[in-house]
Amino acid sequence: MMDDTNHWVFGYGSLIYKVDFPYLQREVASIRGWERRFWQGSHDHRGTPEAPGRVLTIIPSPDRECLGMAYLVEHEVFEHLDYREKNGYERREIGIRMRDSGDQVEGLVYFAARDNPAWMGPAPIARIARHIERSHGPSGSNRDYLFDLAKALRALGADDPHVFELERALRIVLEQTSGGL
Ligand code: BEZ
Repeated sequence: MMDDTNHWVFGYGSLIYKVDFPYLQREVASIRGWERRFWQGSHDHRGTPEAPGRVLTIIPSPDRECLGMAYLVEHEVFEHLDYREKNGYERREIGIRMRDSGDQVEGLVYFAARDNPAWMGPAPIARIARHIERSHGPSGSNRDYLFDLAKALRALGADDPHVFELERALRIVLEQTSGGL
């Protein structure tokens, strides 16, 4: 699949709202059979090696559809994205469905597998929220990662119980800590 032509890449996390790469086309799109989870550690963006943050990966979920953004990019863009998403993510091929046209294309998605060194895995929502509340890294706070994501998903009209429940739990944690929001 990978050659020197253009490729579709599907964004389900920061690629939706942090678009620091050139693209030829952008479409709201989805991947069927997957859903978002804050189960991946972040040593380099929203945490540090000593205190990793928690960021997204996708997990198989047969009845769900994960809404995000698809970008048509030139091959060279992957040099930037591979570096940006180097903390345990690998590219894998995936079927992408465009929301407006219904067109189906083959593309790529960044995926953190369970056996990667930064994997954190499941935890109760309240515990993940507390973890996110205290985490910071070179790209900013872990809480902004979650809030920016939730805002972007709302703008798309996405149904995402995991992310929105976590957002509510984080707001509660922040109200309980000094200063609140
Ligand atoms: C994304 O926004 O698709 C993405 C999420 C995590 C790592 C890399 C990319």
